[in-house]
Amino acid sequence: MFPEIDHILLSREQIAARVRDLGERIAKDINNDRLADADAEVVIIPILTGALVLTADLIRELPLRLSLRVVAVSSYPGASISSKGAKIRGELPQNLAGKHVLIIDDILDSGQTIGLVKELIAEQRPASLRTCVLLRKPETCRMRHVDVEYVGFDIPNEFVVGYGLDYDGFYRNYPQIATLKPEAIAAASRATKPGSSQ
Ligand code: IMP
Ligand code: MG
Repeated sequence: MFPEIDHILLSREQIAARVRDLGERIAKDINNDRLADADAEVVIIPILTGALVLTADLIRELPLRLSLRVVAVSSYPGASISSKGAKIRGELPQNLAGKHVLIIDDILDSGQTIGLVKELIAEQRPASLRTCVLLRKPETCRMRHVDVEYVGFDIPNEFVVGYGLDYDGFYRNYPQIATLKPEAIAAASRATKPGSSQ
């Protein structure tokens, strides 16, 4: 069904175990924050589309009263560094003041996406603001420094798919994290087309 898959970096079991760990840590940290104000709401904000699979699994590891609000971001690869960037599509979740917010994304690469979403949400003065990513590429990939509290796995600078991550819109349903065969990835630089959904 997935003949273009080359090698598997992270198995279903490794991912599931790590997501359980992350859920435990996140729930503990948010509960700690809420000691001061038990009524403070918890809002989970997945960045569409790549964060969908992680979010579905992670929220079921969070025994908290929480709500979900999504944010969609388009990426603009750009010809030069200054023209590269991310842009919010549609509406950013509002009224986050005093709430405990957790942003979820599939991968931290250049940092543009999470950097932008964090910056805009921080302006609303949430009670706490944290970020969780399944994967993080090396610091050398970063165009923008971003602090991320919860990281599933640090991976090498390789293009990966599966568990929500796509190549040209496909493979999001592949249940593990894997690389694609070179012939399939020849056009990898086109994977994030201007304005494409992440
Ligand atoms: P950033 O803004 O460069 O940090 O990139 C974040 C977005 O780029 C992610 O949400 C993904 O959609 C995409 N991306 C970065 N690296 C990969 C990869 O290896 N595979 C699939 N998508 C990726
Ligand atoms: Mg993508």
